[in-house]
Amino acid sequence: MTLVIDDVWPRTAAWAGERLTIGGVGARELAAEFGTPAYVVDQAEFEARCAEWRDALPGGEVHYGGKAFLCPEIVRWLDRLGLCLDVCTGGELAVARAGGIAPGRVVFHGNNKSAAELRAAVAWGVGCVVVDSFTEIERLAAVATAAGVRQSVMVRVTPGVNAHTHEFIATGGDDSKFGFSLNAGLAAEAVRRVLAEPSLELTGLHSHIGSQITDLDGFALAARRMASFLLTRELEHGITIPKLDFGGGLGIAYRPGDPVPPRPAEVVAALRAVLPDHVRPAVEPGRSIAGPTTVALYEVGTVKEIPGVRTYVSVDGGMSDNPRPAMYGAAYTAALASRRSDAPPRVVTVVGKHCESGDVLIRDIALPSDLRPGDLLAVPASGAYQRAMASNYNHVTRPPVIAVSEGSARVIVRRETEEDLLRLYP
Ligand code: LLP
Repeated sequence: MTLVIDDVWPRTAAWAGERLTIGGVGARELAAEFGTPAYVVDQAEFEARCAEWRDALPGGEVHYGGKAFLCPEIVRWLDRLGLCLDVCTGGELAVARAGGIAPGRVVFHGNNKSAAELRAAVAWGVGCVVVDSFTEIERLAAVATAAGVRQSVMVRVTPGVNAHTHEFIATGGDDSKFGFSLNAGLAAEAVRRVLAEPSLELTGLHSHIGSQITDLDGFALAARRMASFLLTRELEHGITIPKLDFGGGLGIAYRPGDPVPPRPAEVVAALRAVLPDHVRPAVEPGRSIAGPTTVALYEVGTVKEIPGVRTYVSVDGGMSDNPRPAMYGAAYTAALASRRSDAPPRVVTVVGKHCESGDVLIRDIALPSDLRPGDLLAVPASGAYQRAMASNYNHVTRPPVIAVSEGSARVIVRRETEEDLLRLYP
């Protein structure tokens, strides 16, 4: 019998016989073939989430926020599904290019793009550069002039909206390293300066208020402020600004019982409700596409019980493949994936293998009390900002990403090797 587990797991996840399967492939088979830790991405879930955003915004633009997770294969999926792509460094730009997407469908972000990055973007023909500072307006104008092109740009505005999320990932307030403050008058000045540059063409305004947002209020407030700012600029300069891009930010549930975020269609409806008819909306969802698609698989290495204190379950990854608990206090769930257990649950703390006490993946989670070395643990909602933020701390090699679909599995990012690490040393 196949039993679908619950919301935080990708749509093809099921208990088949004794173990977890994803995309029709068993966790034990995945671990045996590809090793652990590994990220397992459910291609059907990824595609369905892309399609949901695309269908929520007919006539608009959906740029996947590549910072959540990017590799050439993901670029090919996006391309096939008709999405565009947001990149924020020369490195992401190179991956976009390697994935073969048309440059016109790429938007280039970042608060400190170098002249070299801007030259690479302009030479490749990126669809749009989101300018983030007065320095960058000059820098980009010079690069575009030298290349003999008129570069389409959006101005990044910080609309003074405080999204209800972790301080490190809130970006829309006045005190932000990103963009031009609307309240302080810097955004209006940025529009003036862009319009004064013959090599730049203003095609839109952009705001991104934060990430892992689970209610509509912040989006609706940003939309109202941005729409009114846009109309004022149009009047001031006698121009039309055809696009408002609202960035990313829609959150996901990491654990059963977490707040259920709105669907893409609800976010779009909240934005459209306040947009003037001539303005085309755009969005840049990252986490809400990639996050729920992926399960991280770990093998349990040791179980240490300190009587009356705590039981530690150590797995073969940790803060190098998921820095989010340590950085943001992010909370995850996990399940025993390699066998069925009828043992009563007990509360344990799942830790990684790094030389640091803060290397905690999940504090206080109920797992079967017979959990033992060799068992596999699966952590859902691991698709966004995990492989993308993975490090080589303690010279640990970064895990592979395995795409599963209809009973087959293939590597889309290979496991790093010690040889890869040693290659850096002259
Ligand atoms: N657009 C811009 C301009 C952004 O800065 C971001 C995310 C996105 C789109 C995509 O946002 P999303 O839909 O994924 O929320 N490392 C943090 C999240 C940082 C988000 C950075 N910017 C985390 O792990 O929670």
